[in-house]
Amino acid sequence: MSTIVISEHEFTALRDLIRERFGIYYDDTKQFLLQSRLQTRLLKCRVADFAGYHRFLTASPDREAEWSELASVLSNNETYFFRERAQLEVLVTDVLEESLRAGTPLRVWSSASSTGEEPYTIAMMLHQTHRVTASSVHLRATDLSPRALERAATGFYRELSFRATPPEMVQKYFRPFEGGFFVNDEIKHMVEFSRLNLMDEHAVATMGTFDAILCRNVLIYFEKSTQKRVVEAFAKVLRPGGFLFLGHAESIMRVTDCYEPVVTPKAIYYRRK
Ligand SMILES: C[S@@+](CC[C@H](N)C(=O)[O-])C[C@H]1O[C@@H](n2cnc3c(N)ncnc32)[C@H](O)[C@@H]1O
Repeated sequence: MSTIVISEHEFTALRDLIRERFGIYYDDTKQFLLQSRLQTRLLKCRVADFAGYHRFLTASPDREAEWSELASVLSNNETYFFRERAQLEVLVTDVLEESLRAGTPLRVWSSASSTGEEPYTIAMMLHQTHRVTASSVHLRATDLSPRALERAATGFYRELSFRATPPEMVQKYFRPFEGGFFVNDEIKHMVEFSRLNLMDEHAVATMGTFDAILCRNVLIYFEKSTQKRVVEAFAKVLRPGGFLFLGHAESIMRVTDCYEPVVTPKAIYYRRK
């Protein structure tokens, strides 16, 4: 099978379309990455070149199904249990403490949850505290990629997902099955998964109100203007003083003034002003 080459013009047109829809930005150095990621889609859509694929995405009656496929093809779903754990410790101590003191349920949203390791880790850590019940925690998890969400729903994981997991947690919260592990039902039922595109401000606005939002290791794929749009949409659904957790490589210091950064020896996070 010979490679279909993307022209500079086709690349610019397609990357603008993708940025508008998903926020994910392919800069000029990523032309060949995009070309290779889309090769199989051209075959599936039976179009001869990238200009044809652009037309398919904008005008075909089947375009919505194709956008849905594309969401899975374009997203990098790299994640693992207990990733950047120090921030999660803040969640199960400070954030939990504040809602217990206020006498309100703890409302947490993992907004780019990928295959589920992040929200399931939060569920396990909260369960470990013995201070929550099923009705005192609302744990929502969303992602753009339908394929990642399907995997999260199975609750089945292989070795790579456990690279930072303490062995006693594997023993307590998972059961082995054919070379991998299923997360146990109690933890699984604590998390409510659904599909959400962070570019969809209406969907974000109707999520409810949260004490904490996690948006870790996704803003790196967005331009500054998109990052601003996303974190300012979060500010509308975070309670005053609510917590925002980003990935280690991500900062919104010069992006928005809706948040106060908090820097501790172990973790950096933001609080809504
Ligand atoms: C690298 S994973 C991060 C997973 C997890 N938060 C962590 O830190 O381990 C990035 C996730 O962001 C999701 N993503 C990318 N663009 C998105 C968008 N516009 N809306 C929602 N999720 C998006 C991808 O589907 C992917 O699952």
